[in-house]
Amino acid sequence: MSDPGPPTGSDTFGLPVVHATAYLTALREGGSLPGLVEADDLGTYVVKFTAAGQGPKALVAEIVVGELGRTLGVDIPDLALIEVDAELGRREPDEEVQELVTASAGLNLAVDFLPGSVGYDASFDVDAGQAARIVWLDAFVANVDRSARNTNLLVWHKNLWAIDHGACLRFHHAWGRPEAFATSAYRYDDHVLAPVGDPRSVHEELAGQVDEGLLADVLDLVPDAWLLPDPTRPDPLAPPDAPAARAAYVDYLLARLAQAERWLP
Ligand SMILES: Nc1ncnc2c1ncn2[C@@H]1O[C@H](COP(=O)(O)OP(=O)(O)OP(=O)(O)O)[C@@H](O)[C@H]1O
Ligand SMILES: [Mg+2]
Repeated sequence: MSDPGPPTGSDTFGLPVVHATAYLTALREGGSLPGLVEADDLGTYVVKFTAAGQGPKALVAEIVVGELGRTLGVDIPDLALIEVDAELGRREPDEEVQELVTASAGLNLAVDFLPGSVGYDASFDVDAGQAARIVWLDAFVANVDRSARNTNLLVWHKNLWAIDHGACLRFHHAWGRPEAFATSAYRYDDHVLAPVGDPRSVHEELAGQVDEGLLADVLDLVPDAWLLPDPTRPDPLAPPDAPAARAAYVDYLLARLAQAERWLP
């Protein structure tokens, strides 16, 4: 018989699954209190916990936008799912960390840690095409977290890496009609790379890559457990809920793609 390998199962199909072995330190500059964690593959990860502020929805956005962005040529650290035992939290002296980690027992999101990376600032010479891809992605998914104050861009090995997509896809916090999200304008004046990259210069190329198949593939990477029933979502709520939730994300994103003239600059 072949080795069954790690416990992936249909529900975690696609992203690698690792197991947390040590909590190293809290990344206090992050509002959601991400942790630097070592895993059984000897990797070091920035872990975003399910019990943090916005709950699993922030992790859904991290996966959907992170994997979509990667497909569109934006450098984004690799994502994985990480199993966390409550025991990992109980060993922590800091009470806030202890509570967060213990309440997040189970699957969480792991972002490959880029050691020695530094936060982006204007002295870094960004390629206009790379900037345009990031601005286009952010406008498409309505990312409000790429301002000069909080760029969520890291410079690592002379490249620009995009992180922190938890605040994208705001429609999932109160699902209204898809048109409201689809047609909402984007605040380019608040985007740190908007002066450098013109999203129109890459629109045709990137929009041409986004279709129902790609979005469905990306949604398939989200664990069922994070796609909770939601009374504000316009679809049947009876279990099994996850397929309906995935289809709703795909619909809202396709609707926004079709309205690009409303959100391009
Ligand atoms: N993959 C990574 N490699 C290296 N450092 C990282 C990585 N991911 C995050 N960091 C560091 O941790 C900080 C917090 O991460 P992140 O912005 O993802 O968390 P957050 O809690 O969502 O933050 P925010 O307060 O912006 O909402 C980053 O600003 C960065 O300094
Ligand atoms: Mg951040």
